[in-house]
Amino acid sequence: MRRYSRITGTGSYLPPRRLTNADLAAELAAKGVETSDEWIVERTGIRARHFAAPDVTTSDLGAQAARQALEAASIPASDIDLIIVATSTPDMVFPSAACILQNKLGIGGCAAFDVQAVCSGFVYALTVADSMIQTGAANKALVIGAEVFSRILDFSDRTTCVLFGDGAGAVVLEASDTPGILASDLHADGKHVGILCVPGTVSGGQVLGDPVLKMDGQAVFKLAVGVLEDAARATLAKAGKTEADIDWLIPHQANIRIMQSTAKKLKLPMDKVVVTVDQHGNTSAASIPLALDAWVRNGKIKKGDTLMLEGVGGGFTWGAVLLDF
Ligand code: UT7
Repeated sequence: MRRYSRITGTGSYLPPRRLTNADLAAELAAKGVETSDEWIVERTGIRARHFAAPDVTTSDLGAQAARQALEAASIPASDIDLIIVATSTPDMVFPSAACILQNKLGIGGCAAFDVQAVCSGFVYALTVADSMIQTGAANKALVIGAEVFSRILDFSDRTTCVLFGDGAGAVVLEASDTPGILASDLHADGKHVGILCVPGTVSGGQVLGDPVLKMDGQAVFKLAVGVLEDAARATLAKAGKTEADIDWLIPHQANIRIMQSTAKKLKLPMDKVVVTVDQHGNTSAASIPLALDAWVRNGKIKKGDTLMLEGVGGGFTWGAVLLDF
């Protein structure tokens, strides 16, 4: 009998410090950086974001989300045999945030590693976990997207610092006789490295380069709209489904205008699109599992619904996962 993987629990965590656009605009004004609630809402749909306290790390946020997902799946942490954390803001250069998080859950022994695909990280991590479950390499996985993007923002650059937030989302993915994950489609094109990057590294005890986020927003916007449509169509084709089979589209939460144009291209009404960018901002790899968990907990996503998850971001990377919830 074929093995599939299925999501059996979801969880999320947002650090308590919430800044509305007005709060952030006031903080930035004190540094001589001018922005406004009107500009941010009109261009992005973002109204608020959460920032982690200085001593809080990606693995702290991820562990909280993971605990909630385990509770929702009604399994003890000790049942987990695989942890994958999607993040671009790990606690340390090494070890991985996944190893640190594993220790926080008190479940040493199982495989644990990070996936680095920026805002596509969660769909990459989910696809890897699904593949490992299908082959029998794992039975019960925790797949987590967690970020402290506030640490890599340049707060003198208003074109980027108003867009991002911190948070974490998690799912428990278990082996199952029925799907579950129906199909996925992953891509990258490294020729676009320069349009979205943090061009810094550590060498000889020094930080080399400029370790803050740089983005050519318009170039990213244009690429994102095209590849999100392509990835959704490719994934539907692999699963033998059409747009009409999608109950909920859960796109990466970067900009409401990107989501609207993706929905339009896929002929989906906006009431089938999960939108949390207004409350979370762009939380990179955390945005999709955060959005998923919000819609599971508010009762809109129901057991058996067909979900299209879509990520796009630095690399350039993009991809989609179609699943029966
Ligand atoms: O997570 C990875 C994926 N990332 C994305 O998907 C981001 C994709 N890109 C975007 O979402 C949009 O391109 C942005 C939201 C980043 C920018 O929106 P835009 O409509 O492309 O604005 P723009 O860059 O063309 O800037 C328009 C104007 C400029 O002023 P001038 O040159 O027209 O006088 C900017 O200086 O808006 C100005 N501006 C701002 N004004 C107030 C840029 N940022 C701000 C700001 N507050 N925060």
